[in-house]
Amino acid sequence: MAPQIKYTKIFIDNQWVDAKSGKTFDTYNPHDESVIAKVAEGDKADIDLAVAAAKRAFKRNSEWRRLEASQRGKLLFKFADLIERDFEYLAELESYNNGMVRSMATRFISLAADQVRYIASLADKIEGSTMPLGGQNFSYTLKQPVGVCGLILPWNVPLLMFLSKVTTALAAGCTAVVKPAEQTPLTALALAALLVEAGIPAGVVNVVPGFGETAGVALTHHKDVAKISFTGSLEVGKLIQQAAGANNLKRVTLELGGKSPLVIMDDADLAVAVQYAAFGVFTHQGQICIAASRLYVQSGIYDAFVQAAAQVAKSLKIGNPADETTQHGPQVDKIMLEKILGYIEKGKQEGARLVTGGKRVGNKGYYIEPTVFADVKDDMTIAKEEIFGPVQSILKFETLDEVIERANETNYGLAAGIITTNLNNAMKFSEQVEAGTVWVNTYLTMRPQTPFGGFKESGIGREYGPQCVDQYLEVKTVTMALS
Ligand code: NAI
Ligand code: MG
Repeated sequence: MAPQIKYTKIFIDNQWVDAKSGKTFDTYNPHDESVIAKVAEGDKADIDLAVAAAKRAFKRNSEWRRLEASQRGKLLFKFADLIERDFEYLAELESYNNGMVRSMATRFISLAADQVRYIASLADKIEGSTMPLGGQNFSYTLKQPVGVCGLILPWNVPLLMFLSKVTTALAAGCTAVVKPAEQTPLTALALAALLVEAGIPAGVVNVVPGFGETAGVALTHHKDVAKISFTGSLEVGKLIQQAAGANNLKRVTLELGGKSPLVIMDDADLAVAVQYAAFGVFTHQGQICIAASRLYVQSGIYDAFVQAAAQVAKSLKIGNPADETTQHGPQVDKIMLEKILGYIEKGKQEGARLVTGGKRVGNKGYYIEPTVFADVKDDMTIAKEEIFGPVQSILKFETLDEVIERANETNYGLAAGIITTNLNNAMKFSEQVEAGTVWVNTYLTMRPQTPFGGFKESGIGREYGPQCVDQYLEVKTVTMALS
């Protein structure tokens, strides 16, 4: 049964309102391409109202600014409880609007409440320091919220992205305007309703569904927005950086995807390595920024590995994401479907060996077969560009030094992994690979305790981890004369 959709309007000042223009846009179920709701389409006029509300809520003596830090944390703990209460519904809604398989949505949302609690626990641990200057002066630092934050979300893990950005901004004491991705507005709106239930003062969080080119651009160019946190494409990340520079020097945190290498050494347990490699690239149909999309396999086990990888890819159960046993659901939309099929064609044209998959499944819903390419070369398009789909590209290598060199030959630097039973290999690789996250004998393992973000063009700044709140704070130095 389809989940009930309760919220489709714009959320400003704790009120549900229509778009100023009166416009709506359709949102879909990627499983069967059906329209599941009409959602208010916010653009510049609505962003202006939302930013004004967030600015009022951030005023010097506002209810939010006067709230004690521990009370901010407490509000977020309540929010986490409500997420847990509505766990089943949120997982269902995420799966329905995004195509995420139910088992993954369930796992993610159970992590989500813990993530909110971890970040909430930082709200009352924001500390400065004291610096005796010698002589007659001493200084101390205060860390203060940066102001109104624009939080621009991607469609791939909508609920978790909303929570990581919103919770961190709130723990810091900021206010926010959230722009969910146009493909997946529904869970963001459901979470806004839970924030009201948790007791958030009006205007502290506002959610404006709409398109990037209109609502997104208005937010990134708004003079009253002090900071943007964005997760999405490299292309848009660069536009946001430019907008920040051209306007009011907004602070930016950017998470822009990757082309992450996973290295399998000859000494690895083949059965284990094949499973991690498949998990690393086929999870969520490859629609994750940390996908293991360059799989480097050492020559001694290469042929056996390719065969085993094809078997694993073929064994994945494709079907309706609402079914608990489905392992492989649809891509998010038609644009992504066509983009990924285009990359698969390009792989074939440029001489990679298609081992399995490569085709669309059926003609309703955006399904693509889990696909494996072998004999991929570093200069092929499928080895260089982020595909964001279920495409495993296997490349052969001889030595660890060679593979580190090749792994680093990319503009991205989000994640990397190595599967090996040799400690020296693991240590050397972890130290020398250029990536914000390195996994050894595991892949995709993420918790709120660990800082996450990219080297190079994968982004700027870190989310999660004990310092995550700093991304939403300014440091103020106060210097006093002692006499
Ligand atoms: P996108 O970067 O265009 O969209 C992400 C968000 O940015 C959405 O909320 C969108 O409305 C907004 N946006 C778009 N243009 C904007 C602009 N000019 N100013 C402000 N906001 C804007 O990503 P898209 O088009 O959905 O996907 C393209 C590619 O991006 C994918 O193929 C994938 O490679 C990558 N991607 C990476 C993600 C990640 O986790 N790092 C998540 C989603 C996509
Ligand atoms: Mg785009």
